[in-house]
Amino acid sequence: MAALLECFLLAVAVVLVAHSAAAPAASRLPLPPAAAAGDVSAGSDSDRLALMAFKKLSNGFVGCIPESLGDLQFLEAISLADNKLRCRIPDSFGNLHELVELYLDNNELEGSLPISLFNLSSLEMLNIQDNNLTGVFPPDMGDRLPNLQQFLVSKNQFHGLIPPSLCNLSMIQVIQTVDNFLSGTIPQCLGRNQKMLSVVNFDGNQLEATNDADWGFLSSLTNCSNMILIDVSINKLQGVLPKAIGNMSTQLEYFGITNNNITGTIPESIGNLVNLDELDMENNLLMGSLPASLGNLKKLNRLSLSNNNFSGSIPQLSFRNGGPFLQQPFRPIPKELFLISTISSFLYLAHNRLTGNLPSEVGNLKNLDELDLSDNKISGKIPTTIGECQSLQYLNLSGNFLEGTIPPSLEQLRGLLVLDLSQNNLSGTIPRFLGSMTGLSTLNLSSNYFEGEVPKDGIFLNATATSVMGNNDLCGGAPQLKLPKCSNQTKHGLSSKIIIIIIAGSTILFLILFTCFALRRRTKLRRANPKIPLSDEQHMRVSYAQLSKATNRFASENLIGVGSFGAVYKGRIGISDQQMVVAVKVLNLQQAGAYRSFDAECEALRCIRHRNLVKILTVCSGIDFQGSDFKALVFEFLPNGNLDQWLHKHLEEEGEPKVLNLVERLQIAIDVASALEYLHQHKPCPIVHCDLKPSNILLDNDMVAHVGDFGLARFLHQEHSNSSDKSTGWNAIRGTIGYVAPEYGLGNEVSIHGDVYSYGILLLEMFTGKRPTNSEFGEVLTLHEYVETALPDQTTSVIDQDLLNATWNSEGTAQKYHHIEEIRTECIVSILKVGILCSKEIPTDRMQIGDALRELQAIRDRFDTHQL
Ligand SMILES: *[C@@H]1O[C@H](CO)[C@@H](O)[C@H](O)[C@H]1NC(C)=O
Ligand SMILES: *[C@@H]1O[C@H](CO)[C@@H](O)[C@H](O)[C@H]1NC(C)=O
Ligand SMILES: *[C@@H]1O[C@H](CO)[C@@H](O)[C@H](O)[C@H]1NC(C)=O
Ligand SMILES: *[C@@H]1O[C@H](CO)[C@@H](O)[C@H](O)[C@H]1NC(C)=O
Ligand SMILES: *[C@@H]1O[C@H](CO)[C@@H](O)[C@H](O)[C@H]1NC(C)=O
Ligand SMILES: *[C@@H]1O[C@H](CO)[C@@H](O)[C@H](O)[C@H]1NC(C)=O
Ligand SMILES: *[C@@H]1O[C@H](CO)[C@@H](O)[C@H](O)[C@H]1NC(C)=O
Ligand SMILES: *[C@@H]1O[C@H](CO)[C@@H](O)[C@H](O)[C@H]1NC(C)=O
Ligand SMILES: *[C@@H]1O[C@H](CO)[C@@H](O)[C@H](O)[C@H]1NC(C)=O
Ligand SMILES: *[C@@H]1O[C@H](CO)[C@@H](O)[C@H](O)[C@H]1NC(C)=O
Ligand SMILES: *[C@@H]1O[C@H](CO)[C@@H](O)[C@H](O)[C@H]1NC(C)=O
Repeated sequence: MAALLECFLLAVAVVLVAHSAAAPAASRLPLPPAAAAGDVSAGSDSDRLALMAFKKLSNGFVGCIPESLGDLQFLEAISLADNKLRCRIPDSFGNLHELVELYLDNNELEGSLPISLFNLSSLEMLNIQDNNLTGVFPPDMGDRLPNLQQFLVSKNQFHGLIPPSLCNLSMIQVIQTVDNFLSGTIPQCLGRNQKMLSVVNFDGNQLEATNDADWGFLSSLTNCSNMILIDVSINKLQGVLPKAIGNMSTQLEYFGITNNNITGTIPESIGNLVNLDELDMENNLLMGSLPASLGNLKKLNRLSLSNNNFSGSIPQLSFRNGGPFLQQPFRPIPKELFLISTISSFLYLAHNRLTGNLPSEVGNLKNLDELDLSDNKISGKIPTTIGECQSLQYLNLSGNFLEGTIPPSLEQLRGLLVLDLSQNNLSGTIPRFLGSMTGLSTLNLSSNYFEGEVPKDGIFLNATATSVMGNNDLCGGAPQLKLPKCSNQTKHGLSSKIIIIIIAGSTILFLILFTCFALRRRTKLRRANPKIPLSDEQHMRVSYAQLSKATNRFASENLIGVGSFGAVYKGRIGISDQQMVVAVKVLNLQQAGAYRSFDAECEALRCIRHRNLVKILTVCSGIDFQGSDFKALVFEFLPNGNLDQWLHKHLEEEGEPKVLNLVERLQIAIDVASALEYLHQHKPCPIVHCDLKPSNILLDNDMVAHVGDFGLARFLHQEHSNSSDKSTGWNAIRGTIGYVAPEYGLGNEVSIHGDVYSYGILLLEMFTGKRPTNSEFGEVLTLHEYVETALPDQTTSVIDQDLLNATWNSEGTAQKYHHIEEIRTECIVSILKVGILCSKEIPTDRMQIGDALRELQAIRDRFDTHQL
């Protein structure tokens, strides 16, 4: 085969030599490899060109370049690109004194370059990319190839320095050394006297820079008025990004410095680079705010600043309406040399510390394909204008502080493939349209405050593609999602994770009350127009007009949640000459059962009163401005959020993380136990809460815990649950996965032991910092087992580290510190033991809540809390 090739080469070459000899004054026209298409092509215009081209001789052909090629002394161009030539480049190439262009790219050539190659002083194009070549470049190569215009050596295994003599190449246009092992610094003289230089691509080497001098090359490159591309990504560059970048030619279309350890800020002058198409700076240590001048870059198609330390807000950006720059008019550089594989537009700002809202101008990014703002500190709502980003295929807003609902306009993103909204504060129901977005292949809504029924179509049928975990108030959906069943009456679910309590009036409560009262009075419970149970001295009734005013006409910015029977608004109202912030729950009376729910909730709240239960202030039962029935409940507003947020959301106060310390947690545990004891000892019927979990425990200004959400509560000693109870599905709902007692899963009757179980889990969670649904425990291990196994010797390994590290303002010695750590550990072990005893598998093995309460109080007294 090799012999055949040699014959073939010589045969063609002879023809070429003849042409060449006949045309000694051949002009030298740079010719991209594309011009050498086809299996064999020779110069078509014999006056001008002497070319040998063998492209793709045959698939799978493994051969060698014959030494004898060097005999063809008058050859001006050789293209043997895209074959499988596997051998060294012959020394004889040094004889080709007339050679102007050499294309050997995309073969399997190996060994080092013959030193004779650097004798080819006529050479303008050296393309040996994509081979397996090794060795170093001669230090004087720049002086030996004075006519070189394109130096393309990417994707080989060259090592050593970039020869500073490259700076002497006055005609050079393109330097590409991508994916080699070049080291040392980038010559500071590069570009200084090289007016034609337009592409400098050192991506993927081991180049270094530590100080400003090492970065000098960027300043000298500002002299190159044709500069289009600069890429020094994936190297070992450190030091501060020079301000000179803003002085680069305005022709610059690509600037890349990704995957280095570059520090400093992006200078405002970046906005001068008005032709920039792509700016890649991800994976560095850049900081400061993003310059507003980025908004001047009207031609920007791709911006990646992920994984830095940027702060401040997101500037307004406008992405270009056109295609990528490679499709622009003639460039001297073949387009494949840019190594840009996918042509799409993106904005990556992930993993920074960006704050503020997502600006509504995001809707201007009409051609954006991918938007990644994950892991920042972006707050506020998802702007409705997101629906105008009609090219969007990938949207990742995960790990921010976004709140509010998923905007309906999202439905307009017909091309969306991936949607990740996980780990935010988003609430409301999961919109049905997500199920009908046919392209969607990944959907992550986990760790938010979504509620209500999960759709059962489209992507929601695929449990691997969808995640809705960590939204405690979701129900229904495909069986694989393992969510509790939805009651027919809670179509919209019930949010219990909002700051304000929503005490859901529930049908079951109504039925329970019915039973309770029936037991005593054997009378029928009234339906409509309930007696307002709250005594007038404490609670005056309010009118629709007052509530409308208090909530600014039920303005959407005051909407803080949507529950099963209505919406909850934050409001400010005068009650007994006192202005106070309240939570107003407006019942949606169109919802079946809403009237009964209102009655039931009023009755229930009359039944119970305790300092550790959420308090109702007043009710409103009247007609609205349209003359329709209007019913609302007004609750106290608890400003410190819920326990779940405190334990898991790492709340911040003026930039400082707010962590509950040991004493505070113990006190909250005692508060909750007090509330439960009160409910369990309630007369005439004990009340079982049925849904005790951190998100149902609200904290007031003094960090006193208030148990709320009696939506699932049951009064005991009721007669057998009647048929209406069953048909509404209330019987099926007995709490939240992770906290619900195991016997409930087996269909057992609700009991106070079930609450104790939930309480035990709550205790373990509070002091380990781990949710019972944590996947860390695996299928077999539960939080209970996880703690039980660790007690007492390995306790420190399961304790929430925040409790041990918590603000230790050391005036004392390390010894004292260790002493305190020991005391803390001992105290926590005692608490965890109570948690273990409360969450025993067998209901009757569990502690009584009263005993747990007294044990915790004893622990509090035994350990001098000032020391903890
Ligand atoms: C390079 O050319 C010079 C003279 O032009 C010659 O002396 C030298 O031997 C050549 N080197 C190689 C390696 O061919
Ligand atoms: C390149 O060379 C190395 C050894 O130097 C060898 O392991 C590797 O397979 C070669 N790669 C190709 C594509 O020929
Ligand atoms: C550039 O060329 C000049 C003169 O030809 C020479 O003195 C100098 O050393 C060369 N520079 C480099 C960096 O090789
Ligand atoms: C730009 O080029 C001029 C000469 O053409 C030179 O004097 C100057 O130092 C160069 N500037 C930089 C920043 O290299
Ligand atoms: C950038 O250009 C401006 C104006 O030409 C000049 O004043 C400034 O010193 C230059 N900055 C750098 C870092 O080269
Ligand atoms: C950046 O610095 C870190 C820590 O010194 C080091 O582990 C990492 O390899 C560096 N990365 C680069 C690309 O130099
Ligand atoms: C990020 O910036 C903050 C202050 O701006 C600084 O304290 C922190 O060390 C920086 N982080 C890194 C990884 O550079
Ligand atoms: C969204 O971003 C987060 C954080 O950067 C990442 O962990 C997650 O994989 C991304 N989601 C998708 C679907 O790509
Ligand atoms: C479910 O989603 C995964 C991941 O997107 C995909 O690989 C798989 O094919 C899908 N399964 C079905 C049945 O669509
Ligand atoms: C969202 O979460 C953050 C931190 O977890 C918290 O500070 C903030 O209050 C929450 N906002 C809402 C509306 O829940
Ligand atoms: C919900 O309502 C539908 C009809 O509206 C009924 O067929 C179904 O049985 C109900 N489900 C439950 C759990 O009550």
